[in-house]
Amino acid sequence: MLALAAGIGCRTPIAVHPVALESTAPLSVQCYQGMVVAAEPMAAEAGLAMLDRGGNAIDAAVATGFALAVTYPVAGNLGGGGFLVSVRPDPNALPTADRVYDTVAIDFRETAPAAAHRDLYRDAAARGLEEASTLGPLAAGVPGSVAGMLHALEQWGNLDRTIVLAPAIRLAEEGFALPERTHEFLAAPGIAERMKRFPATAALFYPGGEPLSAGARLVQPELARTLRRIADHGRDGFYRGPVAEAIVAEMERAGGIMTLDDLRQYQPIERDPLRIDLRGYQVITMPPPSSGGVCIAQILGLLERWGWGALPAQSPQSLHLLAEAMRRSFADRNDYLGDPDHRPLPVEALLSRARLDAMAADVDRTRATSSASLFPRPPLPTESEETTHYSVIDAEGWAVSVTTTLNGAFGSKAVVPGAGFLLNNEMDDFATQPGEPNLYGLVQGEVNAVGPGRRPLSSMTPTIVVDRRGVRYVLGTPGGPTILTNVLQVLTHLVVHRLPPVEAVHAAKIHHQCWPDVLVIEPGFPASTRRALEARGHELRERDGIGDFQLIAVDPETRLHTGVADPRGGGAARGN
Ligand code: DON
Repeated sequence: MLALAAGIGCRTPIAVHPVALESTAPLSVQCYQGMVVAAEPMAAEAGLAMLDRGGNAIDAAVATGFALAVTYPVAGNLGGGGFLVSVRPDPNALPTADRVYDTVAIDFRETAPAAAHRDLYRDAAARGLEEASTLGPLAAGVPGSVAGMLHALEQWGNLDRTIVLAPAIRLAEEGFALPERTHEFLAAPGIAERMKRFPATAALFYPGGEPLSAGARLVQPELARTLRRIADHGRDGFYRGPVAEAIVAEMERAGGIMTLDDLRQYQPIERDPLRIDLRGYQVITMPPPSSGGVCIAQILGLLERWGWGALPAQSPQSLHLLAEAMRRSFADRNDYLGDPDHRPLPVEALLSRARLDAMAADVDRTRATSSASLFPRPPLPTESEETTHYSVIDAEGWAVSVTTTLNGAFGSKAVVPGAGFLLNNEMDDFATQPGEPNLYGLVQGEVNAVGPGRRPLSSMTPTIVVDRRGVRYVLGTPGGPTILTNVLQVLTHLVVHRLPPVEAVHAAKIHHQCWPDVLVIEPGFPASTRRALEARGHELRERDGIGDFQLIAVDPETRLHTGVADPRGGGAARGN
């Protein structure tokens, strides 16, 4: 399926995902002031309401995050974690000067409970609990989202906590019509059967045993009460008192190990974002415990050495080299990356000139390398997954990029009785059994083994691109390991191939993660491209859709903001 990209500077026809051609949603939304792009429209509106009241990008991001916990239960969350990258242009700089930025990354990733240990899930499997790292309270890390959001708000927000939480509280109390998409998730056989094993989950989402239908009103009084406690008491409203006690009661009821102490001790961490120079732009993105920044820097380093930018976008040779760069970077990811506070990570060495030169020299430009020669491990299946990303910019040009997750769709599937929110299953992002594949087929090593207080390695990659004139792009997506390869592809479409924002998001994508040794490919590429990739030795595995991208692009001359919500999902851009 080909659509001619009409943008300036774009000469090649771009293969787009077929949903982009069928979608009736607006291709993009434009405005000159603030903008929020999120995977669910009511949550985008909650963020925009903060901008309308004089709030800044942080206020809008936090309001969107709490609203997603209500309106997008598949991934929005109080019981999960995530990463936030913020880039604020110096408001006092002279208009003629190069822009100077205040940047920060907030890591509010879940932590392993103190009682967790390397063989936790191996032992559980031996007791017949095969799904312990994905299903039920034992799968949950200590949630970080509430602490992370409140930390951002206290440090940099303008508005009062009660104002920022008000839209989420109202949506939980008054309810809203269930979007078709959420109904479809609830009805999916692999999800419904597992969700109904937890009484509070069944009561909330499966009244009378059936998934809540599209358009039915979802009212969440328990969740509203939890949100009110957070509005009134800040982090203590969640990490201490009745909500914390409800979490621990569910642990005790259903075999989890998280304690009141674990909750009390949770802290988000401010980190220095990773910066990558790319053709006059600076890419500001997430460092470990995300693998995203490191892998994107490596992949770009390899592509540069191969003269990749000169190849037509999406040509078979371009896709072949892209896949080979992804494959090599994932081999390093799985061997060397994990929680940076648990042991020092060799990030500098992984990004060093010598290592990238050596990795680049090893490629075969005409044939796929066998993953077994790089990282000898067994392949494995993957299953349904969901996370969510939102991008925000305010009228001052302050940009915030947030990716947050419960890990799998609806996380551990366990709603906390009395508190109304789902717990994550982020523990599965550890190498729960080093050497064995996880939910996403990732085979990871000892550096990412389970250990008390550790943060599991992630692929979430909230990213902001700047140049001397200001913020240019705010970007991110869900998709497990495909997050970082998707961010990379949209980034190169925008910056290297100069595609317009809509085409960059709509373009069909590929993904390689070393193991399983297959090239994942979206529908939309011409048969000739697929055949040419197969002829180079790639085993293709078609996947319906990769990610749910939320992009804001800024025109440096006019300051026009263009928001693009991915037609693969049901999101929306809202601007004022
Ligand atoms: O942190 C990670 O890499 C995963 N827990 C993200 C999961 C995800 O994106 C699922 N989404 N589609």
